Amino acid sequence: MCGIFGYINYLVEKDRKYIIETLVNGLSRLEYRGYDSAGLAVDGDKKNEVFAFKEVGKVAKLKELIAESKPDMSKVFDSHAGIAHTRWATHGPPSRINCHPHRSDPTWQFSVCHNGIITNYKELRTLLEGKGFRFETETDTECIAKLAKYLYDEHPDIEFLVLAKAIIKELQGAFGLLLTSVHYPHEVIAARKGSPLVVGVRTQKKMKVDFVDVEYAEEGPLPAERASQNVAIKKSATNLLAPPDKSLLHRSQSRAFLSDDGRPIPTEFFLSSDPSAIVEHTKKVLYLEDDDIAHIHDGSLNIHRLHKDDGTSNVRAIQTLELELQEIMKGKFDHFMQKEIFEQPESVINTMRGRLDVANKSVTLGGLKQYISTIRRCRRLIFIACGTSYHSCMAVRGAFEELTEIPISVELASDFLDRQAPVFRDDTCVFVSQSGETADSLMALRYCLERGALTVGIVNVVGSSISLLTHCGVHINAGPEIGVASTKAYTSQFVAMMMFALSLSEDRASKQARREAIMNGLAHISEQFKQILKLNDPIKAMCAKFFKDQKSLLLLGRGSQFSTALEGALKIKEISYLHCEAVMSGELKHGVLALVDENLPIIMILTRDDIFAKSLNAYQQVIARGGRPIVICNPDDAEFRSEQTEKIEIPKTVDCLQGLLNVIPLQLIAYWLAVGEGLNVDFPRNLAKSVTVE
Ligand code: F6R
Repeated sequence: MCGIFGYINYLVEKDRKYIIETLVNGLSRLEYRGYDSAGLAVDGDKKNEVFAFKEVGKVAKLKELIAESKPDMSKVFDSHAGIAHTRWATHGPPSRINCHPHRSDPTWQFSVCHNGIITNYKELRTLLEGKGFRFETETDTECIAKLAKYLYDEHPDIEFLVLAKAIIKELQGAFGLLLTSVHYPHEVIAARKGSPLVVGVRTQKKMKVDFVDVEYAEEGPLPAERASQNVAIKKSATNLLAPPDKSLLHRSQSRAFLSDDGRPIPTEFFLSSDPSAIVEHTKKVLYLEDDDIAHIHDGSLNIHRLHKDDGTSNVRAIQTLELELQEIMKGKFDHFMQKEIFEQPESVINTMRGRLDVANKSVTLGGLKQYISTIRRCRRLIFIACGTSYHSCMAVRGAFEELTEIPISVELASDFLDRQAPVFRDDTCVFVSQSGETADSLMALRYCLERGALTVGIVNVVGSSISLLTHCGVHINAGPEIGVASTKAYTSQFVAMMMFALSLSEDRASKQARREAIMNGLAHISEQFKQILKLNDPIKAMCAKFFKDQKSLLLLGRGSQFSTALEGALKIKEISYLHCEAVMSGELKHGVLALVDENLPIIMILTRDDIFAKSLNAYQQVIARGGRPIVICNPDDAEFRSEQTEKIEIPKTVDCLQGLLNVIPLQLIAYWLAVGEGLNVDFPRNLAKSVTVE
């Protein structure tokens, strides 16, 4: 949730128009992370005022506001620095005042954009109010800007990096933040702890640099010019502001971007919550790690560690993004969600590429290879996730139990933490997450690491916190998922986990026939997706006919199709705002049946599996009460001849893969229901793509 974007150039002459357009464009790419308000702040030194704009609503509204206020866009500097933010409100409702960037004071001496939560903001606020600061917002972020000003006023000679380190030492919680100041014009600080931050570097000449050193300044004699000054931050009355260690007084080495002849190269830096906002400018990026503080100044980047000898690598490699711009564009589709639904024949192939070898009956998951034998011996496999990712775990649970014969439990991350569930060293805990940044899952991961369990990540976003923190894992390779409602990540997680189960059961002679059947099924999944997507038009028509003006909907499934029902119901709720309840068919007669009549829309998942006869009982119960269900079934199934029944016919596959196919019509139903209501499918109200708060 929340997207932050920053820009700074060095020796690249650009006018303000360019800078503002770059920032606004960056925000549009990040908008899926939060879209209830947006803002930016540019430039500013003691002579030039800060250019700040904030607006409630989507980025387009901010753009309109800037156009209406007709700012002087013509100023050209050698170097500009700007920071921007698109918000998903947590502390304080969406409003201009609560929107980022936040300022230290009415003259914008310090500006901050922040993603995450500062958990000790109340203490910091009380402390700073005690020092005479007046807060103007309800956000947790404002305390960062005020703290910067407080520390600066106390130590006006302090270097920006030293100041930033002192601030960050005071912050508890999770954050990705960008900080600029009129006192340090054309410099930006970017810091990460728990919320992702990527730095993109574009140089006008070919750059030779392929990594940036990470520094922790060693303690040593103070520089002579500083020794006389009392730059130590005084211990406050409440003891909140601890004095700095001596290392605060030292600068780390900068990585300047130089040409072959050793001269500085004109360079632009892009800072972003994720690479999708950077790829159109440059493919050269480096990912900050937790407790990194990046300082960009004079065309150089230096990365400083908050703590000494904490075991992290001492370089950050400059990597080349594999992402292509068209992957984050809608192309011929009206919405990202629609594009992502239609990408599934391709995305599942990408999940299996180079891993599933049907001819040789083998599955190779490079990221798990060294750990497979340890996992086979574990006493439990605990799957931990949230939302759609949780549903994908539910969907594969049966197949895992059957193939591996290891006890499996599937946990919602938040509930798992609330219960402080027991975890042991011989447990394997699997964290499934599209973004790899979901706070609940991340906290559950830390909890399991502390207890010595082996941890596995099943993640889409490369370089995300979950993929970095787990011992081993599988990237699902579904490609960027921008639509807030997850679709292709679900099917790719399903496929990746199925391959995980196949890999674990490779040594089990009794399971070989079943394994072969599943592998053959997986080999045909993509073609079957294509067949199902041809139902797009009939499903659109069905939505207009059966669900128009409805208030509520039931979705029934049994066995592994209950997870399909849960996932379908979540999709329908989140984008069409229609109340939709997933019901385990066997439970229908225990209460929910009271709701059934000829008016209530009901969708029943009734593809054939070994509990089909039991699922049919629920169908008969619905028909007997005059219900008019829509049935998702296999083609030409003779059971469903009743005039009371509408059918969506889905090709047959191996029973444990059937949920992969059955979910597609439900994704399409959710999509067309929302479009039919004129809702903004990609930006459902109150939601954000990546939930980085508890
Ligand atoms: C629903 C949806 C959410 C996410 C959940 C977990 O369409 O997208 O329910 O599945 O917030 O997110 P990740 O998978 O990023 O951990």
